[in-house]
Amino acid sequence: MLTEQAVLQALSSVQDPEIHRDLVSLDMIRDIRISGADVSFEVVLTTPACPLKSRIERECREAIATIPGIGRVEVRMGAKVAASRPMAGPGGIPGVKNSIAIASGKGGVGKSTVSVNLAVALAETGASVGLLDADVYGPSIPLMMGIHRMPEIDSEQRILPLEAHGVKLMSLGFILPDASTPVIWRGPMIAKTLNQFLHQVRWGELDYLLIDLPPGTGDAQLTLSQTLAMSGVVIVTTPQDVAMTIASRVLVMFQNMKVPILGIVENMGTFICPTCHHETPIFSQGGGRKASEHLGVPFLGEIPLDGEVCEGGDEGRPILLRNPGSPASAVLRRVAQNLAGRVSVEALKS
Ligand SMILES: Nc1ncnc2c1ncn2[C@@H]1O[C@H](COP(=O)(O)OP(=O)(O)O)[C@@H](O)[C@H]1O
Ligand SMILES: [Mg+2]
Repeated sequence: MLTEQAVLQALSSVQDPEIHRDLVSLDMIRDIRISGADVSFEVVLTTPACPLKSRIERECREAIATIPGIGRVEVRMGAKVAASRPMAGPGGIPGVKNSIAIASGKGGVGKSTVSVNLAVALAETGASVGLLDADVYGPSIPLMMGIHRMPEIDSEQRILPLEAHGVKLMSLGFILPDASTPVIWRGPMIAKTLNQFLHQVRWGELDYLLIDLPPGTGDAQLTLSQTLAMSGVVIVTTPQDVAMTIASRVLVMFQNMKVPILGIVENMGTFICPTCHHETPIFSQGGGRKASEHLGVPFLGEIPLDGEVCEGGDEGRPILLRNPGSPASAVLRRVAQNLAGRVSVEALKS
């Protein structure tokens, strides 16, 4: 007689390869149904962007196959995103499971480009995703997501986020009359605006809220680290030594503020020729990976320089949608998966 106990016993030999604990103790096995010698169950992953989905499914099947006399096996793969911190109370945004800051040492390294594409990539997996443009000095999310409208206010005086490409959005750029308006801020105004964007926007239920920060280590970074319990921060950098040195300053600042470092993304380190598709390193290759090893933080991936990435940004149609089969899109999707995996790991730690 096949029992639920026997099924769980067999599945307890399967580990989540990132979290390094077994699926049963992680409570990832649900809805076990037994009929004679046949069994079906659901594996509830900690993110729909799990890069190891097929490996976990295969290992579950192999584990079940060891039960003597087992019949038909049906494995359903589902996901429920784990929340990093308590969502309510100080530091949390009600309904938002994970807030992830995207930071860089200096401007122009592709922070906004990476933010936009990671948001789209996560939304494509079925996760609910928001993107907050916290770069109050140079909001570029409206342009890159192809949307520019004044957001509506509901009866409770809360701002309704706009939505594009399956991602909920808020940016100061929606409110400013045009992109060329200079914004001159003092620290307290930045803090106040960011707090409004976090708490007065009706984000609803979000698995991931990505926050595109201004470059450097200024007021926006301080406000966020002090007032929001973030899942962590992603550092975007180009591979030159100089850029890397500046990036590591930001990294140390977040470490000092006790914000987990989710990983480093290298951008524009190699060039893909549009005619022959050959990939050429522009600077010394592998700088981002080396730096992350040196700094002891995870490396999330390296995005090539590709004219289409830039055009996609200018046209408001991210490369992931414009050319989903391009090498840059493949890398961006992998970076999103790696990031989601890291967020799960951090969430289950806390
Ligand atoms: N991988 C890439 N390939 C080609 N162009 C890129 C890439 N990443 C960013 N860019 C371009 O570089 C410029 C700066 O990127 P942006 O995302 O605005 O940087 P940041 O937000 O760090 O200031 C933009 O014009 C963008 O389209
Ligand atoms: Mg930017």
